[in-house]
Amino acid sequence: MIIAPKGTKDVLPSQSKNWQFVEKTAREVAELFNAKEIRTPTFEHTEVFLRGIGETTDIVNKEMYTFMDKGGRSITLKPEGTAGVARAFVENGLYAGALPSKLYYITQCFRYERPQAGRLREFHQFGVEFLGASGADVDAEVIILAKTLLDRLGVKNVSLFINSIGCKNCRKKYSEALKKYMEYNYSGLCDLCKERLNKNPLRVLDCKNPDCKKITADVPVILDYLCDECVEHMSKLEKLLQLAGVEYTVNPKIVRGLDYYTKTVFEFVSDNIGAQGTVCGGGRYDGLITEFGANDVPGVGFAVGIERLLMLLENSGVNLPVNEGVKLYVASMGEKEYQKAFEIATKLREQNVSVEIDHMQRGIKSQFKYADKIGAEFVAVIGSTELEQGVVKLKKMADGTESMIAFDEIGKFIKGE
Ligand code: HAM
Repeated sequence: MIIAPKGTKDVLPSQSKNWQFVEKTAREVAELFNAKEIRTPTFEHTEVFLRGIGETTDIVNKEMYTFMDKGGRSITLKPEGTAGVARAFVENGLYAGALPSKLYYITQCFRYERPQAGRLREFHQFGVEFLGASGADVDAEVIILAKTLLDRLGVKNVSLFINSIGCKNCRKKYSEALKKYMEYNYSGLCDLCKERLNKNPLRVLDCKNPDCKKITADVPVILDYLCDECVEHMSKLEKLLQLAGVEYTVNPKIVRGLDYYTKTVFEFVSDNIGAQGTVCGGGRYDGLITEFGANDVPGVGFAVGIERLLMLLENSGVNLPVNEGVKLYVASMGEKEYQKAFEIATKLREQNVSVEIDHMQRGIKSQFKYADKIGAEFVAVIGSTELEQGVVKLKKMADGTESMIAFDEIGKFIKGE
């Protein structure tokens, strides 16, 4: 037996309704905020992610599915949605249209990580990117959008943590302070972090190595190094969140695992789904679009992991939708009767009635058993007498009531018209 690659999951028919429910709710919430869907390719030139996410991040260093295609180009399966959206936004000249441009997407992502509960190698994100406005009010709106989605889905026990990682200037000062602090502990850092300390010290804070974690436990926090403008941005965001009644905690340790962030960063975290508790992560990225060639287009967004969200929904005891049964099963005996069943099924589907007929040459008893298994609401029987009289014997499965209904009247009858 060939099994699926490690870190991938099939979504089975019994689960796909839950996915549709989450995706439908996500689209509805995005559209409440006037966001429009964008779809970008599953793979991009590797350069998109090197520039977008940053060469010192774990994603770029260790986790990307990168390969040379037959034309000798370096191609990468998208590990997240933002960089591809930024590339598409610039390439298609969306910056010349109405701004802010509010975009959302539902996409699969690929990261070569060690699989565990809530951590896959192929996973799915619902993400939102608001491009073109620099104010903290847009950060607040994006956070409220994420919160609205979680609320509408009925998710419980999720906490919002916010932080600011400042602008380029604040980060320069902070990086120096970090370097100084870690000089004393340099030898205890992992090899990658030794490199990071020179290239991008903030990334050391994001390292999952337990020794590095110990060293960074009491580092200075970036909030103490923010410039006036970044302090003002953060306090405006807090005021707006309070105004909207959104509860949050400032957590100065949140730096996020991608390099494009500036100022606001945030995470919605649950302790209901094990070690991988971050359901949603996002923040502002005022320099990202510039990397792709359009100046002065600030941005802010987030992405929710759909698999983690579904785990959370199950653990929150939310009543998830189940697959509905078929409306009608047409049982028949004999060749001519089967042809009539086939004809009726075709006509009724044109009238938007879901219909199933026998494809296995079963006897009538087995056809009833099958109809029961697939949750048919009605079963119509066509035997030789019914065929002669132009009627079916229609049984309502819930209460066993039977009626003789003319072929042409079946649709109306079962729709209750
Ligand atoms: P991220 O924090 O890397 O941010 O991922 C966002 C969410 O995707 C996580 O909170 C988690 O729910 C889910 N996720 C990430 N990795 C995995 C995995 N291996 N298995 C299952 N779920 C996973 C981003 O990707 C940014 N692009 C978010 C963003 C959008 N920031 C601004 N705009």
